[in-house]
Amino acid sequence: RMPILEQCYNLMDFEAVARNVMKKTAWGYYSSGADDEITMRENHTAFHKIWFRPRILVDVEKVDFSTTMLGTKCDMPFYVTATALGKLGHHEGEVLLTKAAKKHNVVQMIPTLASCSFDEIMDAAEGDQVQWMQLYVNKDREITKKIVQHAESRGCRGLFITVDAPQLGRREKDMRSKFTDVGTNVQSGAATDNSQGAARAISSFIDPALSWKDIPWFKSITKMPLILKGVQRVEDVIRAVEAGVQGVVLSNHGGRQLDFARSGVEVLAEVMPVLRERGWEDRIEVYIDGGVRRATDIIKALCLGAKGVGIGRPFLYAMSSYGLPGVDRAMQLLKDEMEMNMRLIGCSSVDQLKPTLIDTRGLHMH
Ligand code: FNR
Repeated sequence: RMPILEQCYNLMDFEAVARNVMKKTAWGYYSSGADDEITMRENHTAFHKIWFRPRILVDVEKVDFSTTMLGTKCDMPFYVTATALGKLGHHEGEVLLTKAAKKHNVVQMIPTLASCSFDEIMDAAEGDQVQWMQLYVNKDREITKKIVQHAESRGCRGLFITVDAPQLGRREKDMRSKFTDVGTNVQSGAATDNSQGAARAISSFIDPALSWKDIPWFKSITKMPLILKGVQRVEDVIRAVEAGVQGVVLSNHGGRQLDFARSGVEVLAEVMPVLRERGWEDRIEVYIDGGVRRATDIIKALCLGAKGVGIGRPFLYAMSSYGLPGVDRAMQLLKDEMEMNMRLIGCSSVDQLKPTLIDTRGLHMH
């Protein structure tokens, strides 16, 4: 028996429901991680190594967790990250996520490999709703240029170039389910091979030769802020600052690419002290994603110095199981958790979230 929506009390509950109600191919594509899925598991459990050092006797009657990401004001310090093939889980696809994001004034990152067309997703946005674009770089740079400039002309406020996927990882759960219904409008133009699972069927256009040398070109074709999504070491964050990009997402693609890549939060704990040491905190915005399931995860990331966090699978599971009310509830649950936990650690706004409020000794930093 499928639980009613009100019986989902946290983001993990949606996953448990989705496992039972989703089509096998869709579940295989959404839930899979690379190889032995060690990184996918670690993404969430890494947060368990960080503990709080709450303050007491602070007035927390009013709690405000609004923030600014890439210059735009948002009600919550999280965003809906890019996840391909939304229609596998629900016939409305990414547009459904747009509607939920609107309701909660949360930013949505639009994937290159969306099931809905880019324009459909932009059209679903209302008023000054903020959307970002995730980019897989095509071997044909003219196609890439067209996509980027179209996104800018439609009002996208940030370009997230995915840099952790020169080749798609092996996701065996996905590969095992015979994939026939691509269900995407994708402009790859390349021949698809469905025997390797959904992910590989749609990704052969991605350019494995993409390199640091291409960054100036991106800067020359767009005025949108550039953010590298999938950075995994401090040396590359430094290089990103030097290359003049506005942001990085410390991410391992939800554990779907390199198995044994470290979690975003672990890398964050390594990166922020180095940026502070150099006085570079204001030169780049640092985001993380992967395994964020609780407001306490979000708060820990912000204490370490992240501007915001991306959340992927939980919204897909909520969407696939319950449609729009599901994603709405998932966001509301996070909001409620956020309010309570901000109070309990003694902070009334996100600018008060500092490294002194957490104990990171469990991360075994050197
Ligand atoms: C992704 N992710 C992803 N990233 C990206 O840059 N382009 C893409 O097309 C996709 N597609 C995609 C599909 C699915 C089904 C998942 C689960 C993930 C990665 C995504 O943006 C993000 O890094 C992770 O999803 C974050 O981890 P959680 O929140 O899913 O644990």
